[in-house]
Amino acid sequence: MADHDQVVAYKRSEEEKWSQAGEKRWQLFKRLEKENATARFFLQNKAIFPGARVLELACGSGETTLQVAAKVRGYSVPSGETTGEVVDKLLDILRPSYHQEGKLDGASNSGSVVGVDIAKGMLNVFRGRLENTVLKDHVQLVESDVEAYEMPSQHFDVVISQYSIPHFPNAVQVLKNVRKSLVPNTGKLVTVIWGPVAQCDVFSIPRKFLGDPHGEHHHHHHHHEESHSHQPHEEDKQHSVHCHCGSPQHTLKQIEAAGFRFNTVEFPVIYDFPTVDDYLYCLAEMNQGMKQYMGEPKSEAWRQVESYVKEHNSYKLSDGSVVIRLNNIAIGIEAEPIE
Ligand SMILES: C[S@@+](CC[C@H](N)C(=O)[O-])C[C@H]1O[C@@H](n2cnc3c(N)ncnc32)[C@H](O)[C@@H]1O
Repeated sequence: MADHDQVVAYKRSEEEKWSQAGEKRWQLFKRLEKENATARFFLQNKAIFPGARVLELACGSGETTLQVAAKVRGYSVPSGETTGEVVDKLLDILRPSYHQEGKLDGASNSGSVVGVDIAKGMLNVFRGRLENTVLKDHVQLVESDVEAYEMPSQHFDVVISQYSIPHFPNAVQVLKNVRKSLVPNTGKLVTVIWGPVAQCDVFSIPRKFLGDPHGEHHHHHHHHEESHSHQPHEEDKQHSVHCHCGSPQHTLKQIEAAGFRFNTVEFPVIYDFPTVDDYLYCLAEMNQGMKQYMGEPKSEAWRQVESYVKEHNSYKLSDGSVVIRLNNIAIGIEAEPIE
């Protein structure tokens, strides 16, 4: 069992890290997701129906939440090449001036969403987007640690979460709370997590340059001992709190331990970065360890990342342009409480 101080310190660092990401580069990264893949998984799920009451754990800056909220409020979500395009189109459609008061283009006006996240910076971005939409009064944002958030009992038709359960130090307890918070008999947990590290460029590329836990660390350049200490060796990790992204089996066992049965489906999640600089920029901002360990982009260490991705991840689009493509596998999970 991780000790309390470590959990507190870990959560504080998560809050800081994601707040910064929310305000800075997260938007670029999220916007580039091809075919709106992750949100599409949720939108296709029958548990997310017009009129449904939804809770989202760690909603972040709301790229999926907005789409889910639109659906439960009875609006149709436009299609697009990327998540960014879908969100832009949706925000346009959802401007109050597009709709006569009280008149929806869909089936229901009783749906609502509660989004909980620990990072103020993420929620600020989200709030800014919601401000000028007809969803404003139907999406409640709660700045809180999910472990501290008191979930109403037998209330939600569906609890959703994407790429976040592996970040919760006490995920089993959170999931037990989710269980009690679902409407009896019909309530579902629908979530997406990353597949194994080896199938996810978002993890495997940084890991190559931060050192391979199964082999020796690759020290491409001198670094400050102090900053290196932020990147725990694998053996240290056994005793410290850290995220379990890229270990889907770990999360699936936790879902089971909390009293759910589930089905899973794998799907590709692809990001095309217009230039290698866009990718490096994003990587430096999203992965704190990367910057602490390797310094600012443009250093020798970063040039090695640059040549690696140019060699392994260049992808020619049908219009002839070359992008940096990251291929990943996500796992979609639909779970229901075992009686
Ligand atoms: C990988 S991001 C995913 C954000 C969003 N779900 C998405 O996919 O765009 C992880 C999110 O989990 C949030 N988070 C991490 N630990 C948390 C906790 N204990 N309670 C609430 N939110 C947390 C972070 O602030 C961040 O927004």
